[in-house]
Amino acid sequence: MTDAPDPMALRRALGQFPTGVCVMTTRVDGELLGMTMSSFNALSLDPALVLFSIDKRARGLPHWERAQAYAIHALAENQQDLSNRFARPGAKWEGIAHTPGHGDAPLLPGAAARFECAAHTRHDGGDHVLFIARIVRFTAHADRHPLVFAQGRYASLDRGQAAPPLWPLDIHY
Ligand SMILES: Cc1cc2nc3c(=O)[nH]c(=O)nc-3n(C[C@H](O)[C@H](O)[C@H](O)COP(=O)(O)O)c2cc1C
Repeated sequence: MTDAPDPMALRRALGQFPTGVCVMTTRVDGELLGMTMSSFNALSLDPALVLFSIDKRARGLPHWERAQAYAIHALAENQQDLSNRFARPGAKWEGIAHTPGHGDAPLLPGAAARFECAAHTRHDGGDHVLFIARIVRFTAHADRHPLVFAQGRYASLDRGQAAPPLWPLDIHY
């Protein structure tokens, strides 16, 4: 067995891999839940599946484990305040406008993209629980630039340095 890695060094190394920032929402037994997440990722195109993971210490975890639907908002670069609000305990929903989406999960305005999902499977993931969700509906706003999270801080894409689009690559199936 190898020694456990130094958690701070591991965090710093993982921070070299930039992600977007999402706010996930759901409604369980009438109660609104929301949390900020960078562990969101694409998993499968057919079926359309995505994944995210929740810390086992999260207060909302027992509710997230019962939820049958989630709304996943990929935040735009002007939504840092929303990210901070949903990363803290307390009155996350005070003064936040929302409308009901798939399975009654609350939809928030202004995201760069939004995925309305049905719960699919859950798996143990060490100190996190891995959630796999099936996309039921989605919207994307190409004119809104995504909020980026890297090296432990928020960032924006530097549009001056933007390379020409690579996608779809020749190697895509
Ligand atoms: C940029 C960013 C990304 C985060 N990503 C995750 C994540 O992927 N999984 C997670 O469990 N918590 C993540 N968090 C922390 C949660 O948002 C935070 O602990 C949340 O308030 C937990 O909610 P609860 O304890 O009120 O249920 C992230 C926080 C920030 C600021």
